[in-house]
Amino acid sequence: MKIQYKCSQCDYTSMKWLGKCPICQNWDTFVKEDILNNKPLKAHKGRSFSQEKDNVPLLINEISFKNEERYQTGVAEVDRVLGGGIVHGACMLIGGDPGIGKSTLLLQIMHSLALNKYKVMYVTAEESLKQTKLRANRLGIIDDPIYIMSETRLDKIKSQAKSLMPDILVIDSIQTIFSPTVDSMPGSISQVKECASEIMFFAKAEGISTFIVGHVTKEGMVAGPRMLEHLVDTVLYFEGNQHNQYRVLRSVKNRFGSTNEIGVFEMKAKGLEQVTNPSEYFLSERKKDSAGSCVLVTLEGTRPLLVEFQALVSPAVYGNPRRNALGIDINRLNMLIAVMEKKLGYTLSGQDIFANVVGGIKIQDPSADLGIIAAIASSYLNKPICSKTVLLGEVGLVGEVRTASQIEQRIVEVNKMGFTRILLPLKNKNSTDSTNSNMKASYVHEVQTALEGIFN
Ligand code: TYD
Ligand code: MG
Repeated sequence: MKIQYKCSQCDYTSMKWLGKCPICQNWDTFVKEDILNNKPLKAHKGRSFSQEKDNVPLLINEISFKNEERYQTGVAEVDRVLGGGIVHGACMLIGGDPGIGKSTLLLQIMHSLALNKYKVMYVTAEESLKQTKLRANRLGIIDDPIYIMSETRLDKIKSQAKSLMPDILVIDSIQTIFSPTVDSMPGSISQVKECASEIMFFAKAEGISTFIVGHVTKEGMVAGPRMLEHLVDTVLYFEGNQHNQYRVLRSVKNRFGSTNEIGVFEMKAKGLEQVTNPSEYFLSERKKDSAGSCVLVTLEGTRPLLVEFQALVSPAVYGNPRRNALGIDINRLNMLIAVMEKKLGYTLSGQDIFANVVGGIKIQDPSADLGIIAAIASSYLNKPICSKTVLLGEVGLVGEVRTASQIEQRIVEVNKMGFTRILLPLKNKNSTDSTNSNMKASYVHEVQTALEGIFN
């Protein structure tokens, strides 16, 4: 017998016992195992979708093809994020912080699918049947044909799903499921990986569309959804702040649609409600004509979204000035502050700067830059920006304003929300001429001229 020690969290192996795993940094996770006996465990790896017959290469025009069929969930925001509905046999991962509302969202999607006469099966591995029933009652789901199963063993789930053959299956959550073929505890990296790939192969083989829920957990503690992104067809993240009503469902990977598409929801006492006009929603509490506030038009997937950005610049009382960013990347904020110092002559080194995107939404679109600079300048100068103005453009390190993408859709949204003036990059002039809006457009090439245009 040959002995080795294996970390039950991350599968790292060592010839001697260790108190702390050098890879995942967890304590007391090493278990003794027999190298020779462990070998057959790995034998089932390397499965394929069609085990019976050999595959031969085909010419591309010989491949029969029909447009992928989709189940409409009936929840418009979810359908859009998925690229037009749930593709038959697709495997979808929904990640998010614990308590953000993943189970609620899925139960509501299942409710809507059941009303559309689809057969749905919801496996709750975290909660009892009673708890799920309680939540369903709260959501007003009384006598829908939804099958609920409370189970953590993967083989039992698979055999039940195989006899029920639902159209859509939900596994809530992957961290609590375990497969007896892997000898580490549920939630460990090897369990999560193995269970997820088994579920995926099962879904593909049986043609059952499957949602897998994954908690985003403290790094290193247990396996999170990031680790599974390459396995599944679609990765959705449910984001938001627990102290805030808004929830954003965002697709970060989609084999059947565009990525970065978002759906906006509001958490109410009776479940999640769709927000059909997010721009209106995010601007609803705006205080007009106040210094430090600016409206931006960002692009989330294919959807333009108007949000309010706020900056507060105030003299630093002691030590290093503070830089605080909510909803934008702190490095981007620092870069834009440096551009303001160097190219615009602002002295910000003695100022605390706080930045916030109202509504808890996160902006990744670089064309928000011009608006961020304008809001900081507005707070610093204590001069408000006209409340009917929207700013757009990426700012480079030499102070130039660079082109923004999909300008037509953005202008339509800005126009729809009743704004009368837009500042945008000069390079976008050609593409905007075609949009016949009654807005006054000012084209800028440099951030310097943009600020002069706003404040003079
Ligand atoms: P849940 O779906 O259990 O989150 P997750 O599955 O992501 O862990 O959501 C839990 C939170 O949602 C909880 O804090 C209460 C809140 N909630 C409502 O505000 N309204 C509702 O109708 C429901 C069902 C939950
Ligand atoms: Mg849950």
